[in-house]
Amino acid sequence: MGCRTFTGLDTSAKTLERARENLAAYPNVRLVLGDVEEFRFCERFDVAYSVLTFMHIERKRAALANIVEALYPHGILVLSLSNEGECLDFGSRRVRLYTAPVEDYIAWLTELGCRLFEIRNQSGNSSAS
Ligand SMILES: C[S@@+](CC[C@H](N)C(=O)[O-])C[C@H]1O[C@@H](n2cnc3c(N)ncnc32)[C@H](O)[C@@H]1O
Repeated sequence: MGCRTFTGLDTSAKTLERARENLAAYPNVRLVLGDVEEFRFCERFDVAYSVLTFMHIERKRAALANIVEALYPHGILVLSLSNEGECLDFGSRRVRLYTAPVEDYIAWLTELGCRLFEIRNQSGNSSAS
């Protein structure tokens, strides 16, 4: 893993177990069981990265606040979001999704003192404010 340390957080023990197997070759990886809505890291990070996870998170502002608090003052947060659908259907199991418009994320992050660098949509067009 091309960084000094890498920490992953997930609420699913099964997902972490699979990640542990996949990342076994990297001694600088630490995987933690926890809910980003509640979890407070003791250390600080240069970069936080979340891919297709915020649709599962109900209390998004609380989660963003925990992430921002875990970053160094000039740290970078990369968020990849999806706003498609009210739920995910896995046949016998249906998972409720909590979608929110990108404008809400911008407002929450601005309130939390973040500066926005770039917004990209699915077709690759970008803008910044
Ligand atoms: C769709 S998967 C993300 C997949 C992965 N990022 C990728 O791109 O392959 C969403 C993950 O978020 C985790 N998750 C959902 N709510 C969470 C929360 N509140 N705190 C931490 N992890 C959460 C789920 O357990 C699941 O592993």
